[in-house]
Amino acid sequence: MKKSFLAVILAVLMTVLFVGCSKSKTEESSKPIVIQGAMDVETENLVKQLKNVEEIKYRGWKFWKGTIDEFPVVVSKTEIGMTNAAVSTLLAIEKFNPRAIINQGTSGGHAPDLHRYDIVIGKKSVNFGSFKSDRSEYNKGIHSEKWIPMDINVNVNGEMKEVKDFKGDAKLISAAKSVANSYKKGKVVEGVIGSADQWNRELDRIKWLNEKYGTSVEEMETASAAQVAKSCNVPFLGIRILSNSEVHNEDYDRNSGVYCQDFVLKTTKELIKEYSK
Ligand code: 5AD
Repeated sequence: MKKSFLAVILAVLMTVLFVGCSKSKTEESSKPIVIQGAMDVETENLVKQLKNVEEIKYRGWKFWKGTIDEFPVVVSKTEIGMTNAAVSTLLAIEKFNPRAIINQGTSGGHAPDLHRYDIVIGKKSVNFGSFKSDRSEYNKGIHSEKWIPMDINVNVNGEMKEVKDFKGDAKLISAAKSVANSYKKGKVVEGVIGSADQWNRELDRIKWLNEKYGTSVEEMETASAAQVAKSCNVPFLGIRILSNSEVHNEDYDRNSGVYCQDFVLKTTKELIKEYSK
C-alpha cells in the first residue's frame, strides 16, 4: 500500500519534471534570432529570405518577423547611428525576447591587412567615441591623438559595471567561423569592430584608432547594440564587411551589403541547426 503510494508520487513527479523540461525546450525554440542592419542595403535581402513574413513597426522602428528553415527569425532595421541602434535593440528584446542577436552590415577598414569585401567576425566591439582628455589651457590646441579611451558604464540587471569592450558570444562566433570557407569575395577574420557616430577618413586618425583600440573596422552601431544586449543577457555577435577602406583607397561599394547578408544567412542557418539539436 505504502509502496504503491510512493510509486504514484514518483510517477507524478517524473511527469511534472518531463512536462516542465519539454515546456522550457519549446519556449527556447520559440525564441527568435534577431538579425539587425542599419540600412535597406543591409536588410532587404534577408527580409526576402523570410517565410510567412509579417512587417511590424514599433515607434517607427521596422521589424520583419518570419521563419528561416522553420525557425523564428526577426530582421530589424536599426537605422544609422549609436542611439538608434540602442533604441531598436531594446525594442527587439522587449517585443521578441530573442535567443540571440546578430548585428551586421557595412564598415570602413582600419586594419592594414584588410581590404574591401573582407568580413570581420566581432570577437569584440568597442565604443571608440568614449574618451577623456587631460586638461590644457586656451590656445594650446586640440590633440585628439592624446585623448584617453574611457570605459563604458553598463547596467547589467540593475548593477552598474564598467567595461572596455563587448565580447561576441562564443556559440555565435563558432557558427560564423564554420561557414567562413564558403565565402569567396574576400577573407573572413575574427577582429575588433569599432563603433561611434563618426566617419573617419584621416589616415593618421584611422591608424591611431587601429593602434589604440585594436580596431579592424569602424561603423556606427555594433558596440551600442552589444551594450544593450549585454545589459539584458542576450547572446550577441557583430559581423561586418568592409564596404570601403581609406587605408587602401577603396571606395564604398553597396554590393558589399548584399555579400554580408549572404554570409549572415549562412551563419544563421548553421546556428539554427545547432539550436535544433
Ligand atoms: N565609417 C563609419 N560608418 C560606416 N559605415 C560604412 N562604412 C563606414 C565608415 N567608414 C556604416 C555605418 C552606418 C552607415 C553610414 O554605414 O555603420 O550605418
